[in-house]
Amino acid sequence: MSSINRRSKRPFRLALLTGGGDCPGLNAVIRAAARSAFALGWEVFGIEDGFEGLLTKRAHQLEPRDVRGILHLGGTILGTSNRVSPFRVERRGKNGAKMKDADRSSEVVRNFKSMGFDALIAIGGDGTLSIALRLSAKGIPVVGVPKTIDNDIEQTSVTFGFDTAVATATDAIDKLHPTAEAHGRVMVVELMGRNAGFIALNSGVAGGADVILIPEIPFNLDRVCEKIKEREKGRRGGYFSIVVVAEGARSMGGTVHLRSNDEGETPRLGGIGQWVAEEIGKRTGKETRSLVLGHLQRGGAPTTFDRLLGTRFGAAAVRAVAEGDFETMVALKPPSIERVPLKVAVGDGRTKRVPLDSDVVLSARGLGISFGD
Ligand code: F6P
Repeated sequence: MSSINRRSKRPFRLALLTGGGDCPGLNAVIRAAARSAFALGWEVFGIEDGFEGLLTKRAHQLEPRDVRGILHLGGTILGTSNRVSPFRVERRGKNGAKMKDADRSSEVVRNFKSMGFDALIAIGGDGTLSIALRLSAKGIPVVGVPKTIDNDIEQTSVTFGFDTAVATATDAIDKLHPTAEAHGRVMVVELMGRNAGFIALNSGVAGGADVILIPEIPFNLDRVCEKIKEREKGRRGGYFSIVVVAEGARSMGGTVHLRSNDEGETPRLGGIGQWVAEEIGKRTGKETRSLVLGHLQRGGAPTTFDRLLGTRFGAAAVRAVAEGDFETMVALKPPSIERVPLKVAVGDGRTKRVPLDSDVVLSARGLGISFGD
C-alpha cells in the first residue's frame, strides 16, 4: 500500500458522492469521511445527486458546519439518484422519442479532473459501485463504501441501512399482530430487498411471522395455505397468521411481480404481496389483508448499529485514500473493517443472496416457520 504521493502545494481535494436509493446511515458516512479528511488538512467536496452531479459539474465544498448535526438524520445531504449511469445516459430526440443511450463517462472523468478533485469516495450499492469501478479504470482514484437496505453486496458481512430497515419492518410486523389477531385475519406484508430476502427473513423471524417468502426459496401456495390451516386446528373461531413476503419472491415456476419496467436495467419490483393475499383468501376462505411497507423502510433515523457502521466505513474510506489504496471497498469482516478489491466485490455483477444453510433459515425452519417450500 503506497501513501498518496503529490507534488501540488494546494490541499488534497476529496470528493464524496452518494448514489442509488438513499438509506439510513448515509449522513453518518459523509460526516465521518469529512471530519477525518478535515483532520488531515484536506478540502472536501460534496458531489450533488450522485453521478448526475459529475455529469453536470454540480458540487460544493463542505465545511465543518455542513456536517454538524447530521449523524442521526436519514436521507443524504448530498442528494442521490438511481437513474443515471455516465456509461448509459438516456437521450431523447426533439419529438421526445428515445434515442440510443450515450456513453458520457469520458466527460465525467474530464469534469472530475477539471474540478480539481484528487480522489472520490463513492457511497452506494452494487449499481453505484460498479460504475465507480469502471470510472476507476478510466483514471478516477476511487474508494467505495457499500450501502443498501437490501444487504445484497458481496464481501461485506453487512451494509449500513439494513439494520434500520429490519427494525422498521419488525416494528410494522409487531403492529400487525394485534389487529390480525383481533379479526382472525391473514395479514400479508410485502417488504423491500430487491432480489435478496434478508430484510424479509430477519424481520420475519424477529417479528414472529408464520410464513416468510423470500426470492431464494421459490414457494408453493398450497404449502403456504397448509401452514395457515394448521394454525386454525383445535382453535375456536378464525385464527390469525402473519405472512411476510419479500418483493422479489416468486412462486415455483412463476415469475417476479413488477410494478413497472420502464427504468431500463432496474425494473421496480412490487405487487407480490397483494397477489399472495388474494390467493390465500381464495384457497382458504379466510379474510386476508395486504400492505406494502415500501419506502418507510428507507426512512427514519439510522439505528445505533447503522450510525456506528456508517461512521466506521466513512473513517476507514479516508484512511484508504490517505494510503493511496484505490479501487478498493471498505467492508465489515467482523470484528474489523477491512478493504477488499472493488472488482472482487462488484466486478462480476453478482449480488449476495440469503444462504439457504444460514443459521437464520435453519432456526426459522426449526421453529416451524414456513417458507412455502
Ligand atoms: O435497493 C434499495 C431499494 O429500496 C429496493 O429494496 C427497492 O426494490 C428499490 O430500492 C426501490 O427503488 P425506488 O426508490 O427507485 O422505488
